[in-house]
Amino acid sequence: MSEQREQWQSTAGFIMAAVGSAVGLGNIWRFSYVTYENGGGAFLIPYVLALFIVGIPLLLLEFGIGHYMKASAPVSLFRIDRRFQWVGWWAVGFTMFGILIYYCVVIAWCLSFIFFALYQPWTGVEGGANAFFFGEFLGAATEDGLRGPFDLTGPNLTVLVALAAVWAINGVIVGRGLRAGVEPVIRVFIPLLFLLMIVLVVWSLFLPGAGQGLTWYLSPDWAKLADWRVWVEAITQIFFTLSLGFGIMIAYASYLPERSNITRNALITAFADSGFAIFAGVAVFATLGFMAQAQGQGVEDVVTSGIGLAFVAYPQVISELPFLPTMFGVLFFSALAIAGLSSSISLIQAFVSALSDKYEVDRTKVVGTLCTIGFLLGMVFTTGAGIAWLDIVDHFLTSYGLVLVGLLEALIVGWVFGGERLGSHIEGAGSFRFSSHYGTFMRLLMTGALAFTWFGLHQAEDGLGTFLARLFVLLSIAGVWLQRSWLDYSLKVIIPVALLGLLDRALAQELLEPYGGYSPWAVVGIGVGWLVVTLLVAVVIDLHSWRQEERSRAD
Ligand code: TRP
Repeated sequence: MSEQREQWQSTAGFIMAAVGSAVGLGNIWRFSYVTYENGGGAFLIPYVLALFIVGIPLLLLEFGIGHYMKASAPVSLFRIDRRFQWVGWWAVGFTMFGILIYYCVVIAWCLSFIFFALYQPWTGVEGGANAFFFGEFLGAATEDGLRGPFDLTGPNLTVLVALAAVWAINGVIVGRGLRAGVEPVIRVFIPLLFLLMIVLVVWSLFLPGAGQGLTWYLSPDWAKLADWRVWVEAITQIFFTLSLGFGIMIAYASYLPERSNITRNALITAFADSGFAIFAGVAVFATLGFMAQAQGQGVEDVVTSGIGLAFVAYPQVISELPFLPTMFGVLFFSALAIAGLSSSISLIQAFVSALSDKYEVDRTKVVGTLCTIGFLLGMVFTTGAGIAWLDIVDHFLTSYGLVLVGLLEALIVGWVFGGERLGSHIEGAGSFRFSSHYGTFMRLLMTGALAFTWFGLHQAEDGLGTFLARLFVLLSIAGVWLQRSWLDYSLKVIIPVALLGLLDRALAQELLEPYGGYSPWAVVGIGVGWLVVTLLVAVVIDLHSWRQEERSRAD
């Protein structure tokens, strides 16, 4: 490396940046609608289990590997074994040119709604906030429902202008670099975001009917736990919310100083993130309770579509608030926009550091190009068909893309690099050691999850496959208690098994009925196509040799 690698100015800067990446639209917009669709309070159980069993170990992995290799995802994986560089390129590629593209469009909606909150244009519209959002604003409504993915219309101008603003903000922040751009901005954004959220939660608790919404939020519907789809959603949400499988956490950790308390940082990031989501859920559901009461309906009847939660339910609430409605609206949508921006810059930063680890690049030029491409690709999501595209791309890239990357990471680090080696690196770097109690706690959780799998297999047909699966579950339970390092075992066995099970179930479902009732062509073409194209590009970049690779060959 020709020059010294940049470093965070302070640990607090790093933690805030990691929390800023993790806390995003996913914590407010996605968490509340996924919770809403999966049985309210009952969802918190699989969610918290997924956090401990899959989320925290993978976060330790990404922080640990980035710190050990001092490199972004592709080069880190290359240094583990030169066959695996493509995994890193794929991770940063489909997230940068997939998830980020629609994510920025949602941030653009937030920016637009900050202004709409000032004069509430939906009040005069027939059909209220729902008709305003899907009809006037997105142009997605037709006589018979929403437009299909191939029913393209011209881009929507308001969204387009807001989208340009989002990419410009992204570009300016990341273009200035880690120390001059990302870190100082994040140090303002994150405290501001937490402050805004506290104001919103307190405010919403004082609304009449709040209690009704909270009861609904926190009362578990146990029957839902028997549905494996709820578990799939929980794991998927954990990936999305902790920014796992994006290559972001690897890149961020690569800028840490030699001596760093990695376990502490990982635990703070994970708990701050989930805590924020659950806390924000209080505001969302208290507000829904208010609306249910104002309209004389049940909580489950006030919102009909997941995506509409933030952009339909909230606008409606704003118009019905007894005092300072404009202010409430501006605060809510500003919180969303800030949460979104601190996540979007993390991925651009991760992509730029991947590029500059491999090639000599001019930062300003690369950031400018990336943001322009991002804006142009984003245009498809600003058309009337945009929301259908968003739905399909989000489903495929998060439930398959991120999960596949996580699976590969766990296998590569667990088996090739060595999970115990990762554990000792983390401890050697000055982290606090996990107490033996934590180890016991993790073993109990893993045993519980395996036992759950055992019972889940009851629903499967009997046969050789089921018998072998049961045998495997029993052996794994034995392994949990016999292995020395829970982290090693979790990376080698537990996480791969959980993720493979998830992929197997989700794929089976996919073959039964195409996602979301779209035509199979749309789903395969857009969803699968996106993953395959980015995979091919990743392989090409992998095969393209570079200076460092040549040097390490010469060594
Ligand atoms: N963790 C973020 C959230 O919960 C998701 C996220 C992080 C993200 N970085 C991103 C999404 C980059 C898109 C692009 O919202």
